[in-house]
Amino acid sequence: MKKHNYSAGPCILPQEVFEKSAQAVLNFNDSGLSILEISHRSKDFVAVMEEARTLALELLGLEEKGYQALFLHGGASLEFLMIPYNLMKINGKAAYLDTGTWANSAIKEAKHFGETVVVASSKNENYNHIPKAYSVPQNADYFHCTSNNTIFGTQIKEFPDISIPMVCDMSSDIFSRSLDFSKFDLIYAGAQKNMGPAGTTLVIVKEEILGKSGRTIPNMLDYKQHIDKESMYNTPAVFAIYTSLLTLQWLKKLGGIAAIEKINQAKAALLYTEIDRNPLFRGTAVTEFRSNMNATFLLNEEALAPLFDSMCKEAGISGLPGHRSVGGYRASMYNALPLESVQVLVDVMRELEVRS
Ligand SMILES: Cc1ncc(COP(=O)(O)O)c(C=O)c1O
Repeated sequence: MKKHNYSAGPCILPQEVFEKSAQAVLNFNDSGLSILEISHRSKDFVAVMEEARTLALELLGLEEKGYQALFLHGGASLEFLMIPYNLMKINGKAAYLDTGTWANSAIKEAKHFGETVVVASSKNENYNHIPKAYSVPQNADYFHCTSNNTIFGTQIKEFPDISIPMVCDMSSDIFSRSLDFSKFDLIYAGAQKNMGPAGTTLVIVKEEILGKSGRTIPNMLDYKQHIDKESMYNTPAVFAIYTSLLTLQWLKKLGGIAAIEKINQAKAALLYTEIDRNPLFRGTAVTEFRSNMNATFLLNEEALAPLFDSMCKEAGISGLPGHRSVGGYRASMYNALPLESVQVLVDVMRELEVRS
């Protein structure tokens, strides 16, 4: 039976990406060799790395604007500390917006490096919204925010206009919506949602913000080193990067971010309309901040959970349980999830109303 995969990450990728990456494990580019057994310095893999770096910038509209794309190790979590290591000056300070668990983890790491100002937090309301009224100290070395809060189902719709470098964790909504990406000086995202398998992290950095911290940075944690070595300072995550390239090619063929954004908006509208209409359910995030990637919702009557869960299972819906910090359900509607899967979930929600 066809599965409808709502997993929050690792998550669904386009079917053709699964097929092509599986083929490359058996026989890459008709070479008779697996992508897993060739040198990362071989002509074929260097071409993969180059195309992936170029295509990431192209899709974001950032080519020839002073940015570099890197595919690094360590997940988004390593960026939590690489960012202050590279950008926070000795005796300097950084400004952070606290919108959820991941923002909080980033704040904790920054504190190891120096003064970390939390400009606003929605923690007291269990992160059900994005704070609006805050000001960013103009003498901070950078401002850090999280564009989409995977766990709490909220998304920043408008980013502040500031004159210090803006850093953004886009792990769970990169390549999903049109933004002026040139507003950001550093964007990072673990691959395992909208881009590929776990194991690599995309970092997009404006070169001019680097080399100003006055710190001695170990090579492996130094963005400049990774740029100088064309993202091959050490052996890169070859399979994760190749699969990410296939997803980026898929997105380009579809029409890029503008095209996927329309599909994502249609999916989110379909589900949120049902959450609001159906008296059995309620959303957890404040409406204006609802994420188009992760929709979090609860059953009004907990007693209906076993029936709803079994109906979801019967319909082939997988990965719907919410994160323990919110409870209930979380429908992650990443780029590769088809509208048809959202329709299946909505039909089950309607059927529950009839049966209950
Ligand atoms: C917004 C966000 N940031 C950071 C992380 C942590 O990513 P990683 O597991 O790649 O370190 C996640 C993981 O889900 C996330 O959703």
